[in-house]
Amino acid sequence: MSKDNKDFFKSKNSWSEIKDRLLSCYLPQYFQKLLMTRKEIFYVDCFAGKGKFDDGNDGSPIIALKIRDDCIKRSKAENARINTCFIDLNYADELKANIADFCDSSGSLTVISGKYEEKIEQILSNKRGANIFLYIDPYGIRALDSNLFDKFASYGFYSIELLINMNSFGFFRDACRVMQVDYKNDEALNSLEEIVEYDPTYISVSQQSEELLSNIAGGDYWKDIVMDYKAKKFDGYEAENRFSTKYKERLREKYTYVLDMPIRLKPGQRPKYRMIHVSNHEHGCILMADNMASRSDELFIEIQRGGQLSLFDLNVENEIINMDEIQDKMQVFLDNFPQGIGADKLLACFFTEYGVICKTGLIKKIWKTMEDSGLISVDRNPALTENNKPSRTFTESKRQSVIIRRATK
Ligand SMILES: C[S@@+](CC[C@H](N)C(=O)[O-])C[C@H]1O[C@@H](n2cnc3c(N)ncnc32)[C@H](O)[C@@H]1O
Repeated sequence: MSKDNKDFFKSKNSWSEIKDRLLSCYLPQYFQKLLMTRKEIFYVDCFAGKGKFDDGNDGSPIIALKIRDDCIKRSKAENARINTCFIDLNYADELKANIADFCDSSGSLTVISGKYEEKIEQILSNKRGANIFLYIDPYGIRALDSNLFDKFASYGFYSIELLINMNSFGFFRDACRVMQVDYKNDEALNSLEEIVEYDPTYISVSQQSEELLSNIAGGDYWKDIVMDYKAKKFDGYEAENRFSTKYKERLREKYTYVLDMPIRLKPGQRPKYRMIHVSNHEHGCILMADNMASRSDELFIEIQRGGQLSLFDLNVENEIINMDEIQDKMQVFLDNFPQGIGADKLLACFFTEYGVICKTGLIKKIWKTMEDSGLISVDRNPALTENNKPSRTFTESKRQSVIIRRATK
C-alpha cells in the first residue's frame, strides 16, 4: 500500500514515538558528557521536518532544542554552548516558525533548506576538532549514501556519532524489485507501508537502481542475499537480518562501534526498521547500549501493564536473556585480547560484536562471577579502595582503571 508523506506530520505515529524516546533519553547524557571535553558540540538534525506535528507533539528539532537549553542551564562548564543545525528539503520555513521561540544564547541555531546529501559536506567543512552528532531520520533509504558516512569518519572531528533510521525491510524489498525477484507472498516485505520518497521513480530504472542500492549498502553484498532469498534458502525476515548484519559490518570498516535496535511496537512482534548508532568512542556506545536496552524494557513493561505477562526478560532482539550464554560468549570473546582490555572498551566491543544482548549492569555481574570463579583476572589501578580494602569495581573513571583478561589455566 502506498503512503503519501504529506500526511506524515498530521499526527505522530507510534513508530516515531519510539524513535523519539531513543533520541530524547540519549541526548541529555551525550550533551553533558561532551560539554566536559570543552570542544565545540555541533548537533545536526539532517532530516528535521517541521519541528512540530499538527497534533501539537514535538518533532525531533524541538525535542533536541529543549534538551540543549536544559543542559546548558544545568552545566557548570564556563561559556557552555551547543551549536545546532536543522536541514529539511520541504519544511524549512515551517520549521523556522515553529522554533522561533528558541534563541541562540545556548548556542547557534541554523535552519537550512535543501537536501542533506548536497548540503552536509559544506556544513561540516569547518568543524575539525568538534564533537559532531548527526541525527539521520529520512522517510526512506534513498539519501543514505554510505560514501558520505565513510567521508565523515576521516574529517578529523574530535568525536562523531550518527543515529540512523535504516529502513532495512524497505531496502530489501527494493533490492528484490530491482533484481526482479518476487516477494509478493512474503509477509515480512508486504506488511510495510510503502513510503514515497521525494523521487518515487528512483527505483524503476534497473541499471541506475543497482548502483543506487550499492551506494546505500556500501557494496554489492546485498545481491547475494537476494539470490539466496530467491532460491528460498530463507524468508524475508532472515533476509533483512542478514542484510542488516552485513550493513553494520560495512559501517565498522570506518567506525569502531556500531549498535542497532530493531524497532517493534510490541515485544514478540516482528521489527519494522532499525535504529543504528555509530560512534568512535566507547562511552557513547555504552550509553547508547543501555539506552536501547531501557527503551526495549519500557515497551515490555507497557505490555505487561496491558495484561500480557511474561516470565522472562527479553533483550532488544526479543531473545530471552540468559546469563550462562552471555558468560560463555564473554569467555570466548576475551580470547581476542590476550594482553587484557579496559572494562569500558570491552563492554563497547562486546555489544558491537553480539548486539545489545543485555544491559551493562548484567555484564558487570557476570564479570564478578567470572572473577570469583577464577575465569578472568582483573588488574585495578588503584587496587585498593579509599578504605584500604581490595577494590572489586568494574567501573572505570579518570582515577580508576580496570583491565580484564581471561585467566591462564
Ligand atoms: C521522517 S521525516 C523527519 C521527522 C523528524 N525527524 C521528526 O521527528 O519530526 C523526514 C523529513 O525529511 C525531509 N526530507 C526528505 N528528503 C530530504 C533530503 N534529501 N534532505 C533533507 N530532508 C529531506 C522531509 O521533508 C521530512 O520532513
